[in-house]
Amino acid sequence: VLEGFHPVKHALRFDADIEMVLTPDAAALEALALELAPDVLDRLRDLLTLVPPASWPRLGAGAVNPVMAVARKPAFDAAGFLAEPAGGPPLVLLEEPTHLGNVGAVIRTAAAAGAAAVLTLRGPDPWHPAALRGSAGLHFALPVARLSALEGSCRPLVAVHPEGEALGVRPLPPNAILTFGSERRGLSPDLLERADRRVAIPMRIGVSSLNLAAAAAIMLYTWRLGPESG
Ligand SMILES: C[S@@+](CC[C@H](N)C(=O)[O-])C[C@H]1O[C@@H](n2cnc3c(N)ncnc32)[C@H](O)[C@@H]1O
Repeated sequence: VLEGFHPVKHALRFDADIEMVLTPDAAALEALALELAPDVLDRLRDLLTLVPPASWPRLGAGAVNPVMAVARKPAFDAAGFLAEPAGGPPLVLLEEPTHLGNVGAVIRTAAAAGAAAVLTLRGPDPWHPAALRGSAGLHFALPVARLSALEGSCRPLVAVHPEGEALGVRPLPPNAILTFGSERRGLSPDLLERADRRVAIPMRIGVSSLNLAAAAAIMLYTWRLGPESG
């Protein structure tokens, strides 16, 4: 379920399989699309269903949102993907994230940076509408899936952890799984032990950690701006 203009815009732009787009005010929505995203206007018109304004609040989209949509979650073979040895961009793995806003923010940055995928290990469904709001609908720009276990991967596992070698001393390996821990507990001993490397983002003394989504943004843009991203 996509709530608001920007999530619907990105879903259209990244070819989501959209079943319906709903609005209580087609003229206002068209004006918004013309101003902010004329590239999606034709498809938006084709999919549009008008909802009586009196019924709109009952859909839970919020008074300020002039649009919501329902789209199909793309199929994704996470096991096959993890087993691929192909070189390329890193993928992000979030271990038991708890805050759906953080999950969405990581997906948004990962899409912008050109990451290969965002996977979550246990924790809430990363396709929850709150995560889709946080990503502005950029779930459709790269594979997003939840795993119950990390198995069969032949990619180097990089634990992003406050205690490790400082970021920037060595390039990140190609194809890396950049693994981040949960907001409160951090990475589990199991993943820390399995990691091929532990990388820390330097911080001023006295600061214990960065926000999860901020840490992911720093790691992804270090890769993106470095020579290893090509
Ligand atoms: C809010 S932090 C978790 C804090 C947790 N109390 C701990 O000690 O790890 C969430 C995640 O962001 C990443 N992170 C935050 N600050 C970091 C830093 N300075 N260096 C490396 N990773 C960091 C780690 O992956 C961490 O598990």
